[in-house]
Amino acid sequence: MPSAEEIRDAQRAAWAGLSAGWDKWDPVIMDQLGPVGAAMIEQLDIAEDHQHLDIAAGTGEPGLSIARLSPGGRVVLTDLAPEMLDIAARRARAQGLANIETKVCSADDLPFDDATFDGISVRFGYMFFPDMAKATAEFARVLKPGGRLCSSVWVKPEDNPWTAIAMESIATEAVVAPPDPDGPNMFRCAAPGHVSALYEDAGLRDVAEWDVDVELVTRSPEQYWDMISEHVSLAVAALGKVDQPARERIRADAIAKVRAFEKNGEVRVPGVARCIVGTKQDGSGNLPRDGARPTNATQP
Ligand SMILES: C[S@@+](CC[C@H](N)C(=O)[O-])C[C@H]1O[C@@H](n2cnc3c(N)ncnc32)[C@H](O)[C@@H]1O
Repeated sequence: MPSAEEIRDAQRAAWAGLSAGWDKWDPVIMDQLGPVGAAMIEQLDIAEDHQHLDIAAGTGEPGLSIARLSPGGRVVLTDLAPEMLDIAARRARAQGLANIETKVCSADDLPFDDATFDGISVRFGYMFFPDMAKATAEFARVLKPGGRLCSSVWVKPEDNPWTAIAMESIATEAVVAPPDPDGPNMFRCAAPGHVSALYEDAGLRDVAEWDVDVELVTRSPEQYWDMISEHVSLAVAALGKVDQPARERIRADAIAKVRAFEKNGEVRVPGVARCIVGTKQDGSGNLPRDGARPTNATQP
């Protein structure tokens, strides 16, 4: 079992390597993940002067969108990989956003005072943290009473053909070990209730989770393969272990499979994410803001 430090080092190196792919495919990735960011923002109750923390911000979303909604506030984008945050900072400048700061740090060790932020977002970051419980305790610590945490994770691979197709093709040529349920990987938090339990253990209340459909849209099956093979963490790691002829065969297999999703000159491959929201109570145990939120598995 690798130590937390070893996990952080491996993740930092992996995302440094993936950053060029995320930069190159940003418009396609952001279109795909946009509905998840929008669903999270809806739950975060963003005020004009909102103090916000975006964890595992990567190339900047949903933090950049939140900064646009709170021009009198402040959004701190944090990530373990400086290469990803450099892209986010460049995007913030290009969009003329002056209320953005960046800070390289790990989610489980935050360099912020207690009760600093009105809201925290974690879009597709949880599954990579060395200690998810410790990270959630950190989020609860730096949230103000009444502040909300909203995160998103992927549900099981069977509901996410946009990655499952590529992984099936890779498995025709390489032994793809089943992901370690306790180690970082994109489907680590797929079980319903997994992240909700972390929130509740950290003392958050009115925890609710719900699923959001996504669609990966590319111009062609070839573009689908180029994009997946250059930015999806599981695929890039597995492809790194095969030689060039095997890569070519995998590419041909994935392109043939994804043709089933081709329609009207586009390829549209579906997927499903899960969002999880929770609120920090005040010292008296009351919810200081609007209170009651549903605790079932439907959209809050
Ligand atoms: C899938 S990307 C998500 C980026 C962005 N939030 C989005 O949705 O577009 C995952 C990010 O998690 C970051 N990450 C991995 N381990 C981390 C850790 N321990 N603390 C903070 N960020 C971490 C990676 O560097 C990467 O940028």
